[in-house]
Formats: sequence, C-alpha cells, structure tokens
Amino acid sequence: MKRPIVELAGTGHYTPARVVTNDEFAKVLETSDQWIRDRTGIRERRVASPTETNACMAQAAAEQVLRDTGLGPLDLDAIVVATCSPDRLLPSQACDLQAALGAKNAAAFDVGAACTGFMYALNVAEGLVASEQGRHVLVVASEKLTTITDWTDRTTAVLFGDGAGATLARPSTNGRGILANYMRSDGSLAHLLYRPGGGAAHPPDEQLLKDHSYFIKMAGREVFKAAVLSMADACDHVLRRAGLTAADVDLLIPHQANIRIIEATAKHAGIPMDKVFVNVERYGNTSAASVAIALDEAVRSGRLVAGMKVMLVAFGAGFTWASMVVQW
Ligand code: ACO
Repeated sequence: MKRPIVELAGTGHYTPARVVTNDEFAKVLETSDQWIRDRTGIRERRVASPTETNACMAQAAAEQVLRDTGLGPLDLDAIVVATCSPDRLLPSQACDLQAALGAKNAAAFDVGAACTGFMYALNVAEGLVASEQGRHVLVVASEKLTTITDWTDRTTAVLFGDGAGATLARPSTNGRGILANYMRSDGSLAHLLYRPGGGAAHPPDEQLLKDHSYFIKMAGREVFKAAVLSMADACDHVLRRAGLTAADVDLLIPHQANIRIIEATAKHAGIPMDKVFVNVERYGNTSAASVAIALDEAVRSGRLVAGMKVMLVAFGAGFTWASMVVQW
C-alpha cells in the first residue's frame, strides 16, 4: 500500500435553513411524494434564500475547516472551489471566497466538473501540496443549484438542492492521507446533462428566458445508467490503485443523487449498505457539494473516525467521474 503524501484535515458544511418537502412540489407539479421517494430516495431538500449566496455558503463551510484545523486565513496557500452554480461568471467563486476570508496569501481558482467537482478539486489540491506549491490548500464545494433548476420541469426540479462542504489538503502526518485517486471524463455525452444557454455560445437574450434554456436539462434515464457504470468503474480502479479490496473499505461516501444509484454502486463494489453514508433523503442532489457535505456529516456524527479507510466516489455532467481512497 502506498504511503500517503497528502492528508485531508478538518471538514465543514453549510446548508440553508429552508426545507422544501416533496409535498410542496406535488402542489404545483404533476408529481407526488411517493414517486419522488420511490424513484430517488429524496424526501426533502434545502433551498437558499436570495441573500444566501454561493459565497456565503462557501464561507460558512470554509470557516468550520479553519476552526477544526486551528489555521488562520493567512495560513492558506491556495483555495480551490468546485461549483457549477457560481454567483457570477467572472471572476471565480474562489476569488470571492478568498476576499471574504481575508486569505491574502492564497491563490484562488475554480474547478468545473459538475457533481464530480469536489473530487476533481481534491485531486488538484493533492497535486499542489505534493509538488510543494503550498502546505495548506482549502477545498470548497458550493452550489446554489436551485437558481439554475427549472421549477416547472418535474423531471429535474425535484432532484436538486443547495449547500456547501469543505476540507483542507496538507502534508500527511502519522500515515494519514490520500492512498489513491482516479479521474475520468467523456465529453461526447455532454448533451445528456447540460445547460444549453447563458454561455458564450448562446449569450443571454429574451429567447433564453422564454425557452428556459438557461436551466439544467437532463436525459434522466441515460444519466442514471452512465452514473451506475461510471461509479462502478471508479470504485474498481481506485481500489486497484490503492492495492486494496472492498473488504478493506470501512466507509463509502458516494455522490448523493439517487438512492438507487448509491445502492447499485455499493452492490457492484461489494460494500454492504451499513458501510455506506447516505443523506440524499435530506438534501437531494447538491452537485459538487454532495460528497463534501456527506464527508463532514460522517465525521461529525462519528461514522468516520481516525484509522478508517474511506472511499469517495462521484459522477456528474461532462460526463465526469472520479474516486479517492483516504486513510482517515
Ligand atoms: N414525478 C412524476 N413522474 C415523473 C417525474 C416526477 N418528478 N419525473 C419524471 N417522471 C415521469 C417521466 O415523465 C416518465 O413518464 P413517461 O413514462 O410517461 O414518459 C416516467 O416518470 C419515468 O421517467 P424516467 O426518467 O424513466 O424515470 P427514472 O426511473 O429514470 O427516474 C430520475 C428519473 C430520478 C431522474 C433518474 O433517471 C435519475 O436519478 N437519473 C440520474 C440523475 C443523476 O444522477 N444526476 C447526476 C448528475 S447531476 C449533475 O451533474 C448536475
């Protein structure tokens, strides 16, 4: 087994106070609590208020990590933010966070890999620390997805929620840290999960508002199949790279999009559901923030404790998928 060079230290998360239940959707869309629970496992999700920006949520999660690690903002060498729902397109969400924290010594930039964003950002952070470009790299995944979700489209509206999660990459101590990681993408399938308008190819105009092309469009069934296959691929590869088997994994933290995808991933990997962290029923799919929020909840609830091996795995638009095994 590889000796880790980089560890994850401290965790944090923030979710908005406003809870939207499935029944609230059933009042305005042709859907039901039963359908949503049966097909996705989601019971409710958190929805940010207009003043709860992506930046506010990112800052709250980041400050928890600083408290956990005893670091100050000036100790940060870099800030990597994973998001597909930034407050604005220019500059990056990470630069807003850097200013809000007063992290004057930090480089700051965003990583875009949709629901896999946290995993990609962790990978970048590991590289920065391993190559000695920084000792303390803050990784934050923050999403205000409900602002890019079409609340009149039942096939996507019921799935998404808002929130943020964070951790810190730093040089390994006492054999703790990242044992292996794996990242892949397939851009030829981008059209199955994307936002058609609002970018440079289709700049904002009246038509964009009329045809709702500003919002996330998803071919749910195809995405479902790809998510199951890709997360299985990611689990297989990362375990091989770490020189481990499923039996060595103490906790699996998968992307929280759909309980059926989570169960299929665990089954393929050969990991029993009592070793799988699940919170999809409370938050829905928070895209990049999903694994980050789950990681913090696992730590704070005592499900993930020092000495355990945890496997993180995610899949998202792109398509992108990635996994990581960490000696906690
Ligand atoms: N309520 C009631 N009926 C619905 C709803 C709803 N909210 N949504 C869809 N339906 C209907 C469909 O219209 C369809 O009706 P039809 O048969 O008359 O055409 C029927 O239910 C079945 O639709 P499917 O799409 O086949 O349903 P499925 O069982 O696949 O569930 C779901 C849909 C939940 C979206 C599922 O496909 C899924 O979870 N996909 C993956 C999503 C995901 O993992 N995304 C990850 C990345 S997200 C990111 O990167 C931002």
